[in-house]
Amino acid sequence: MKIHILTIFPEMFAGPMSTSIVGRACQKGLLSIEPHNLRDYTKDKHRQIDDRPFGGGAGMVMKAEPFFEALTTLVGAPKEKKEGRKIIMVTPQGATFSQAKARELASYSELIFLCGRYEGIDERVRETWVDEEVSIGDYVLTGGELPTMVMIDALVRFLPGALGDEASAEEESFSDGLLEYPQYTRPEVYQGMAVPAPLLSGHHEQIRRWRRKEAFKRTYQFRRDLLKGRSLDIEDQVLFAE
Ligand code: ADE
Repeated sequence: MKIHILTIFPEMFAGPMSTSIVGRACQKGLLSIEPHNLRDYTKDKHRQIDDRPFGGGAGMVMKAEPFFEALTTLVGAPKEKKEGRKIIMVTPQGATFSQAKARELASYSELIFLCGRYEGIDERVRETWVDEEVSIGDYVLTGGELPTMVMIDALVRFLPGALGDEASAEEESFSDGLLEYPQYTRPEVYQGMAVPAPLLSGHHEQIRRWRRKEAFKRTYQFRRDLLKGRSLDIEDQVLFAE
């Protein structure tokens, strides 16, 4: 998968995108991440990427031209659809990012993230180029760079071969609509606190059932909203009848 990022701060991506699982996925060739500096696509001598808003008001708006120039270089004509490619505007106005969206984004062969700063991006960029707008939550950050990294971090887990061992992205929290069960590692007793007995039983079915029950408990305690409208399948009904 190829990821292009249009930003005025390409240097922000250097450390986080070359570390840990994302960095390893890049090294393995599963992913390539290319930040493009929007200033390289300006035409004036000051390399100006923003200007005052028409109609007045506080702050600055990112100019259309650097985005148009960069996107023309990357993809050719506006709205020239290519199978497997998606142009995403990263903005608090977008639909909220989720685990399902991470899985979907991982299925494309090319993603282009447009990172806004200041009061946003000239509307003509959205009208002309953007396939989808995505937010990472109902709060306002200073730009789209961190949200873009959040989305890349979440989607990389769905790229086949990205998670080192046998681990599957599907086994984690949210993939089955539940929070993850509690985890323990050695020692068996730490400061008087013992690891729950089923986990030490060596009995796979017992461990699986304990984990599923704990996942439900935890979800009920912390994120009851995730259980709304969910009906228990027969296996879970049996589990809770125990
Ligand atoms: N830009 C600023 N805040 C944002 C958010 N919450 N999600 C996506 N892009 C943003």
